[in-house]
Amino acid sequence: MGEGARRADEGEKLKNITLIKGDGIGPEISDAVLKIIKAARVEINWDIQTAGADVIEKEGVPLPARVIESVKRNKIALKSPVTTPIGKGFRSVNVQLRKELDLYSNLRPCYNLPGVKTRYDNVDIVVVRENTEDLYAGIERQVDEDTAESIKIITRGASERIARFAFDYAVKNNRKEVCVVTKANICKLSDGLFLESARKNSELYPQIKFREILVDNCCMQLVQNPNQFDVLLLPNLYGDIVSDLCAGLIGGLGIAQGANIGKDYAVFEPVHGSAPDIAGQDKANPTAMLMSAIEMLNYIGEVEAAKRIKTALFDTLKSGIKTADLGGNAKCSEFTDAMISKLS
Ligand code: NAI
Repeated sequence: MGEGARRADEGEKLKNITLIKGDGIGPEISDAVLKIIKAARVEINWDIQTAGADVIEKEGVPLPARVIESVKRNKIALKSPVTTPIGKGFRSVNVQLRKELDLYSNLRPCYNLPGVKTRYDNVDIVVVRENTEDLYAGIERQVDEDTAESIKIITRGASERIARFAFDYAVKNNRKEVCVVTKANICKLSDGLFLESARKNSELYPQIKFREILVDNCCMQLVQNPNQFDVLLLPNLYGDIVSDLCAGLIGGLGIAQGANIGKDYAVFEPVHGSAPDIAGQDKANPTAMLMSAIEMLNYIGEVEAAKRIKTALFDTLKSGIKTADLGGNAKCSEFTDAMISKLS
């Protein structure tokens, strides 16, 4: 995940970490990752918290205050996906968590993994997505029976800080270019403000090339020639969509890692959702969750363990042991055990 993502009090090893197990495939991939981290002899006091639909009956809300308090106490969390009902029901736990902890940057590095065959080699893109506003502010209303309205909020403050995050990340990680992705030709004021903030900040980083692209063209270019991109900087909604596209370029959601980083807290979680279609069947690929956990270990200073786990993961993939999403026939538990047997 790189230098830009490292916490300020570098060197201090945090041992108390919140684990949000989520739902759907969440518990399966969480258990797999816990087992691997334990086998790698990393000592962590996991503060396990439940959230989502399953806790509503008992506690009345999908994201009880105890979950937020736990992350505030421990500063770091590893999180599995939580289902968000479509069209009705509770507000997204994910959006609420990001908002309440002010996790303003969503960092999604996307690069080819060894042993995973994809259309393009040498993809190495970092998606930096603004994480707190845009259409995710959740301001919607039914105007009349036949009309609904959602409000897109873009502020200068949030746009400037995410632009700074992207450029800082680029500098600290020897990246060459930041490309801002908007639809500022149509959303002239909102995306226009996001673009203006990126432009303004680009002037402070003359060593980093700056590029602008419209989101529709960006999608087409990503599919045709992804190797041209380096760091992508996007508002929330485009960032959400484009990061799934980027996940597709490197083998799919089963391997795409992510992190939500703010000034005070960091929550590491895979890009994918709760995959209800394969939940409870021991079919899920734990790699995306594990890659997120590896970055969390780097972040808390467990660099050596992170490296050992990554090597074992890559060796497993190279040896051809893969879950079904990558064309293999290993179950989640079999993949996990194979990986553990390769841990040094
Ligand atoms: P999804 O990411 O859960 O699944 C999309 C497709 O990818 C499915 O075919 C699924 O089987 C596959 N897939 C995802 N992760 C996989 C893994 N680790 N191994 C193997 N295959 C995997 O997206 P979907 O279906 O749109 O969303 C399901 C639920 O997840 C929704 O309620 C959504 O709101 C929620 N969600 C939660 C997120 C979070 O907690 N951060 C992020 C994205 C979605």
